[in-house]
Amino acid sequence: MRIMIIGSGGREHAIAWSLKRSKANPTLFVAPGNGGTDGIATNVNLDASNHVEVIDFVTRNDISLVIIGPEQPLVDGLADALREKQILVVGPSALAAQLEGSKAFSKAFMKRNGIPTASFETFTTSQWEAANQFLQDEGAPIVIKASGLAAGKGAVVCMTLPEAEATLSGMLLQNSLGSAGSEVVIESFMEGEEVSVFVLTDGTSYQTLAPAQDHKRIGEGDTGPNTGGMGAYAPAPVLTSALYDDVCRTIIEPTLEGMKKEGYPFQGFLYVGLMITKEGPKVVEYNCRLGDPETQVVLPLMKTDAQDVFLAMAKGELDQLKIESRTGAAACVVMASQGYPGSYEKGKRITGIKNFGLDVPPGEVLDSTGFVEVFHAGTQIGQDGGLTTSGGRVLAVSAFAETLSQALDLAYERVERIEFEGAQFRRDIGQKGLARQ
Ligand code: GLY
Repeated sequence: MRIMIIGSGGREHAIAWSLKRSKANPTLFVAPGNGGTDGIATNVNLDASNHVEVIDFVTRNDISLVIIGPEQPLVDGLADALREKQILVVGPSALAAQLEGSKAFSKAFMKRNGIPTASFETFTTSQWEAANQFLQDEGAPIVIKASGLAAGKGAVVCMTLPEAEATLSGMLLQNSLGSAGSEVVIESFMEGEEVSVFVLTDGTSYQTLAPAQDHKRIGEGDTGPNTGGMGAYAPAPVLTSALYDDVCRTIIEPTLEGMKKEGYPFQGFLYVGLMITKEGPKVVEYNCRLGDPETQVVLPLMKTDAQDVFLAMAKGELDQLKIESRTGAAACVVMASQGYPGSYEKGKRITGIKNFGLDVPPGEVLDSTGFVEVFHAGTQIGQDGGLTTSGGRVLAVSAFAETLSQALDLAYERVERIEFEGAQFRRDIGQKGLARQ
């Protein structure tokens, strides 16, 4: 079978890696891919916003399944365009992807469907005075979110009123996030620990992967500016089995049923970002895709054949398959360029990685007691065949082992053997998980 993955991050490398391990050994294309996917798939220089070009490539190359990694092409309707041509796709329609593409939509959806989340109000630029008054009445701490897609910069937790005022006027009046911030959601601050649940759904039935915890800040101890995520681990013990049952009953099922009832059934990966508060789990946000770097831990934990899983999702046959997890834990540590999440230089030579990424060749059985993989994000293969940095988050070292502590040891041992000028990484990945054990 021939499968194409859309995207260029560590998430897409991990999806390709999981498929390359399938017993069916599919032929893989990744558009546009990165230096790591180049080792296991054909990288294709396609513009995902050009639906005609994508459909043309898929048709000419006899590709039977397309998996869309990032949110932008989903919000732009790539899944709809492919489905119109009877091409199997993993990914929601543009209408369903509004769960991520419009915070105003998702918050109103949760309210309509009685799904627990922080209380909120929505304002547009023309409602600036009312928005400012609401802020003064509520005070800080408070959360301000750009309604549209803002590449991970759209949600600001404001600890003081002056910070909130500056954030609000930045978004609504100074256009700091462009059209994404011309509508905002102002919501109450939730206290608790965050955890993410990844729902795999074919629009009717669903199953979940291991709950994961991300590390969003650049600095150790959750300090400094937000990033796309500096590391992750799974399963996250903060989501006990009792809380998981609660999440399924009060959040996942009402979400999928609500989407169906309102006319936009969700098919694909639904990322439910949760806060475990004193009153129980509440939704922080929905994303219409897998997380990055969370995918780099949840897929290595998935024992079931990845091609079988993704095909069942695309065909509406997920109820005929049981997704099984490995017993153990996975952790990943992101290595980033110096200066990230601010400006950074590219083109730094990377050493310490064999075969452009794969520590365990696809044909070799994964060691049930432990294995390591390096998932690339901002890497490319230079003209001399050497690997260089080409992005802020350069790669993620993922490890699986019997315990979280062992997985972290394996990942950090591997990180120590990879070098590029200015490499930065957090040394405290997984500490909240260890503390709970
Ligand atoms: N790691 C956060 C995200 O994928 O949105």
